Amino acid sequence: MIFKNLIQANLRTEYLGKDIEYYQIIDSTNKEAKSIINNNEATHGMMVITDNQKNGKGRLNNGWFMGAGKGLAMSIIYLKTLSINKATLIPLASGLAIAKALENRGFKPKLKWPNDIILNNKKIGGILCESDIKNNIINSFIIGIGLNINETINDFPKELHDKATSLFIETDNSFQRELICAIITTFLERSIQNFDSIMDGWLSFCAHLDKKVTFHYKNKEYSGIFKGINSKGHAQIETDGRVLQFPSVYLR
Ligand code: BTN
Repeated sequence: MIFKNLIQANLRTEYLGKDIEYYQIIDSTNKEAKSIINNNEATHGMMVITDNQKNGKGRLNNGWFMGAGKGLAMSIIYLKTLSINKATLIPLASGLAIAKALENRGFKPKLKWPNDIILNNKKIGGILCESDIKNNIINSFIIGIGLNINETINDFPKELHDKATSLFIETDNSFQRELICAIITTFLERSIQNFDSIMDGWLSFCAHLDKKVTFHYKNKEYSGIFKGINSKGHAQIETDGRVLQFPSVYLR
């Protein structure tokens, strides 16, 4: 069970999370957010959250596992008009918000481009942003956040045992999901309101700045040195002496 009033009591925001739609069980909070928008029932900053996401969506058509009653799966609906340039920074702003929230709780998180949240070299969270774009204008934007909180290693499917972690696995302590959710949402609103500081903030948590990265692009594998991000949030990777910009690649 997730208590909406516990989230709201801990929020320090002007508009994010003022309306919360809670579902005990649901396929995907991003999918539900989309249908709320399509039914004209969404408000700017609305949060969709569930205790048990059965069919979570991940990036690159992957799924996303959440331990029932243990993890955090939430989507924030952003309805104000956004330029494409600003919108490309929102996924990074979201990763930054989660990193800051975890740091606030005493952890030392890292970010892997574009927005994997890493703790102790394992993935603890991810972000899936989805937008409705018409004539180069973004009408609605969904920020989907998944974070492993109270899962034990045996809650995860076997294939994730080497790759995934949770706050519980790292500390042997349980965490109140409502509080973590409220802290993330509070940092998220601050990040979004302060676009100019996203790049530097994100880079301060980057796990692989100036390090070798291997990645797939257009069905080929490349490696290079990660040199940072540009003003659109695209990866800048040096290969064969040239720094190239990549809007979307899969870093291994
Ligand atoms: C990734 O692949 O790293 C992104 C994972 C994003 C998962 C979250 S959980 C809440 C929201 N609803 C979804 O179906 N997916 C996102």
